[in-house]
Amino acid sequence: MNKLTITCPDDWHLHLRDGEVLPDLVSHTARQFSRALVMPNLKPPVTTVEQATQYQHRIKEAAQQAGYPDFVPLMTLYLTDKTAPSEIDLAVEQGLVGVKLYPAGATTNSDAGVTHIEHCDSTLARMAELGLALLVHGEVTHQSIDLFDREAFFIDEVLDPLRKRHPRLKVVFEHITTKQAVDYVEQSSALGQGQIAATITAHHLLYNRNAIFQGGIRPHYYCLPVLKREVHRQALLAAATGGSNRFFLGTDSAPHAKHLKEHTCGCAGCFTAAQAIELYAQAFDSVGKIQQLESFASFNGADFYGLPRNQGQITIEKKPQKIPANYVMGKELLVPLNAEESLEWSFLG
Ligand code: NCD
Ligand code: ZN
Repeated sequence: MNKLTITCPDDWHLHLRDGEVLPDLVSHTARQFSRALVMPNLKPPVTTVEQATQYQHRIKEAAQQAGYPDFVPLMTLYLTDKTAPSEIDLAVEQGLVGVKLYPAGATTNSDAGVTHIEHCDSTLARMAELGLALLVHGEVTHQSIDLFDREAFFIDEVLDPLRKRHPRLKVVFEHITTKQAVDYVEQSSALGQGQIAATITAHHLLYNRNAIFQGGIRPHYYCLPVLKREVHRQALLAAATGGSNRFFLGTDSAPHAKHLKEHTCGCAGCFTAAQAIELYAQAFDSVGKIQQLESFASFNGADFYGLPRNQGQITIEKKPQKIPANYVMGKELLVPLNAEESLEWSFLG
């Protein structure tokens, strides 16, 4: 099988930033995806529905300017200790798709995030009532917990108690990186315990944590949650390609300027948007499961969020391509994950 045509995919976890870089960034995603769920961790964060709808408008304008007038940005709200239940009513009214939980200090621009999730219980109750999804950056932040164990601790300390307090709450466990997260999502769904699903990035399917240290320190492979051991990568790959509708595509493509990645204190985030579908294709093909790509990339996410599946199609081909050394992002350069390396699949359009 050299060519594969699938229903147009969606990216259910994307960072587009704001301002002059928007047209450059949105064009990479709009070239391959019909819709993207845009993360709210701007500076300052998108904490009100009004900010979210204004941001959506700027993204649409940028997409139009980049030649993609049909691209649909779906929006999220940044949850804080102070988000009021009434903001949830407004979010639903304005067509926002989710509310994002960043534990304070967990990742890029998360300082305004939630300090204690119990502070948000009345807001979460309203979300459960109205069917608005909670999107979770699932890592604890205490310094006593090893960086590589943060996700596993989060499941027991935060996520499971939260879901027991709000059994009807729809939850997306974002960019999962561990076997424990895969098991948790699978067991919850097998037991019929509420509605939970997870996004998986291409880089967590393709790489284990050795990639960060291969022949020297490689900042472009550093993201949060950080890459994990091979056993976890294998579990993620089995979950993504195994046919369960609880796992779907979310690139977590997170652009940072080249000089801020290649820095004494380099930013977390991998830029994968420019070759997103090819990276996933490579991962699926590596275990002979390319036929499962369509449901993972184009059906499961839309179904979970209760949105219609896309109408159009895209085609990819098993034909090598070389990833460019960098891209332009406003006045800065942007280095993609695996820059200048070869990929086995190409996007035809
Ligand atoms: C993201 C970013 O740069 O905004 N970084 C990352 O490493 N994934 C934030 C996030 O999703 O954690
Ligand atoms: Zn992210």
